[in-house]
Amino acid sequence: MSEISNERGFSGREITAAVVFAVLAGVIASTSYFAGVNMSGGAGADGMTAAVAEAPVNGQSLYVSNCVGCHGAEAVGGIGPTLLDTAAWSAADFNGAVLHGQAPGGRTLAPVMPRFAESGFGGETATDEQVEAIHSYVKSLQ
Ligand code: HEC
Repeated sequence: MSEISNERGFSGREITAAVVFAVLAGVIASTSYFAGVNMSGGAGADGMTAAVAEAPVNGQSLYVSNCVGCHGAEAVGGIGPTLLDTAAWSAADFNGAVLHGQAPGGRTLAPVMPRFAESGFGGETATDEQVEAIHSYVKSLQ
């Protein structure tokens, strides 16, 4: 057997190197596989959603921290338009505008208006519940 190996020109060193390479490749492949599972797995994201859902939702403080700079105190407008008119909007329409920049009638809002589904509120994922709380607060300003 060893004579055949020698005829093919593989030294013991080369064979050892090949085995070490194969083992390392296996380790790297399985490490990235598990890393990938951890990154896309629900544990982290679910934990975050749960934390947000458990926190008390306050429409006024969400409005003051995230909207007042552009839509003004009392929602009368500033950089952005008044939001008083949106009191008549459905929850779905209001959520679409705030989370995705999609206003009723297929109107895409200017990029100045943040897409809160992407930016979140204060670094945490924005939820429908929070946007509805902001909508209630805006309605209360009429
Ligand atoms: C950086 C400035 C800015 C911030 C912050 C901001 N907006 Fe806006 N918003 C705008 C601008 C500008 C528009 C108008 C965009 C257009 O008409 O294309 C707009 C449009 C809107 C509209 C659509 C109004 C309409 O009548 O068409 C809604 C609803 C809205 N914003 C809600 C919010 C809420 C709620 C927040 C806070 C969670 C917020 N915005 C934060 C700038 C901002």
